[in-house]
Amino acid sequence: MNVQERIRQRRSVRTFNGVKISNEVLADLLSYCESIQNPYRIPVNFIVLDAEECGLSSKVIKGESHYIAGIIGNVPHAEEAYGYSFEKMVLYAESLGLGTTIIAGTFDRKAFEKEFGIQENERMFCVSPLGYPSEKMSINERAMRLGVGADKRKPFEDLFFENGFKTPYKPQNGLVRNSLEAVRLAPSAVNKQPWRVICDEKGFHFYEKDPAANGPFDIRKIDLGIALCHFMSVYGGTLKISDPGYRTLDKTEYIATVVSA
Ligand SMILES: Cc1cc2nc3c(=O)[nH]c(=O)nc-3n(C[C@H](O)[C@H](O)[C@H](O)COP(=O)(O)O)c2cc1C
Repeated sequence: MNVQERIRQRRSVRTFNGVKISNEVLADLLSYCESIQNPYRIPVNFIVLDAEECGLSSKVIKGESHYIAGIIGNVPHAEEAYGYSFEKMVLYAESLGLGTTIIAGTFDRKAFEKEFGIQENERMFCVSPLGYPSEKMSINERAMRLGVGADKRKPFEDLFFENGFKTPYKPQNGLVRNSLEAVRLAPSAVNKQPWRVICDEKGFHFYEKDPAANGPFDIRKIDLGIALCHFMSVYGGTLKISDPGYRTLDKTEYIATVVSA
């Protein structure tokens, strides 16, 4: 299965079948996690804990085997780097037949941070359950998916533009179209899809719609990191932070540019 198929196939899994993941499969996942790099060059450490042994649970998750957490230093661009690396892990887990859900809200953050041993200068923005998807979703899971419209995504013309925010961009086929489609399908907190991209001859400029004004971290920057991961996993390219100076939409912040490698 190539990365585009994995992106198309992935969905958040909140109902698992209760089967324990073997040590071999966990070792495979963790060994991949050690190889993950993000274009911000900020390391993210992954730790897996047994849900039952460590008393870890989330009210929206059923039948999970383990939890995985990413841990990152408290540094500039930590959110974007974290989203990028965490999504790499999610897509690899998908290839192993494991279900995941990126969780930043519906868990007892303090209890998890204690169990995962998070230090003062470290951030654990998200965790994910790991396990094998159950054949049937719980009623709660169905209701949650319906509530956030999890099966829907915004159309191309709402997300992608050329040479500024006035003209929608919709290539019919080819690598650029596939790479933008991978962004469109990305998961985001409450399915907000806060990414906007301007394409011009210099590259692909990523913007964040409605950055979080307060709170301990900006969850939408994690979404932007996930979008960059999807785009670069298909397109390749190199990340640069070099604002092209386009007049932005209301409450929209420049994040980064992907240029051809
Ligand atoms: C940064 C981030 C945080 C999320 N936090 C939660 C959460 O706290 N609880 C939850 O059930 N799902 C959470 N999700 C999952 C989203 O609701 C889900 O990705 C979105 O609705 C799209 O559905 P899909 O992943 O099935 O495509 C989060 C996703 C992201 C990317």
